[in-house]
Amino acid sequence: MLGNKTEPVLEAVRIGKSYGTKHVLADVSFSAEKGEFVCIVGPSGTGKTTLLRALAALGPADTGEVRINGTVVTEPPAAVSVVFQDYSRSLMPWMRVGKNVELPLRRYNLARAEREERVMQALRDVGLEHAARLYPWEMSGGMQQRAAIARSLAYRPEVLIMDEPFASVDAQTRADLEDLMLTIRERLEVTILLVTHDIEEAVYLGDKVIVLAGQPASVTREISIPMGRHRDQIETKSRPDYLELRAEIHQLITRRPSTVAS
Ligand SMILES: Nc1ncnc2c1ncn2[C@@H]1O[C@H](COP(=O)(O)OP(=O)(O)O)[C@@H](O)[C@H]1O
Ligand SMILES: [Mg+2]
Repeated sequence: MLGNKTEPVLEAVRIGKSYGTKHVLADVSFSAEKGEFVCIVGPSGTGKTTLLRALAALGPADTGEVRINGTVVTEPPAAVSVVFQDYSRSLMPWMRVGKNVELPLRRYNLARAEREERVMQALRDVGLEHAARLYPWEMSGGMQQRAAIARSLAYRPEVLIMDEPFASVDAQTRADLEDLMLTIRERLEVTILLVTHDIEEAVYLGDKVIVLAGQPASVTREISIPMGRHRDQIETKSRPDYLELRAEIHQLITRRPSTVAS
């Protein structure tokens, strides 16, 4: 009936969440397809982390549901892996990088050779194949975040969820990590859901940008970014359509709620 439109890998259906009397999310709905890069953008305190925790079933929603490949999620799904903002707290300082990447694989029943192969592949995917024997504290912030990304990839997830993953690295490292994520999506066809308060980052990376705003927050707008998959830090960011999309989202986010009523 709907032609050959593919089934989404991830669907959020009317997600609602409160902390006590504080209503944070109301009816948040969107979907992501295989290999799609979806950026969720919203100001600090909107409820982005709350939404991601609900999507990964780490802090379940009060209302609504999350579906992965059509199945309603009730516990943290194996198909989903999460990269948190604070890489310095996500790696074990006493373990070498290779062991850090291997750690979450231990709960799967994998043969040792398979585990080692996955660790090496994940390190290659992030350009850290020579760093397996380093300790986290021997690496720069950018390398540590690459290691955290490798650890998530070693699961071979279908959906990679990232919470402001580049918020605490310098601008050049950030640009490199953004481009790394584009390469990873291209190579692995993984679906990426990246949350950020940075509008430029959202438009640069996304096939689609979900604007989260309001109190409680809901999806104010879903904007598709028809700039193709190839992005370039200089060229893409000087395109007229990039600048227009950026301005449009900026307006949506900074529009004052006082215009609604007084
Ligand atoms: N565990 C919690 N208990 C109570 N309030 C919380 C909790 N986590 C977040 N909040 C509140 O919910 C709102 C949304 O938080 P959060 O999802 O972290 O926003 P964002 O990630 O967009 O900055 C904020 O007002 C925050 O103070
Ligand atoms: Mg947050």
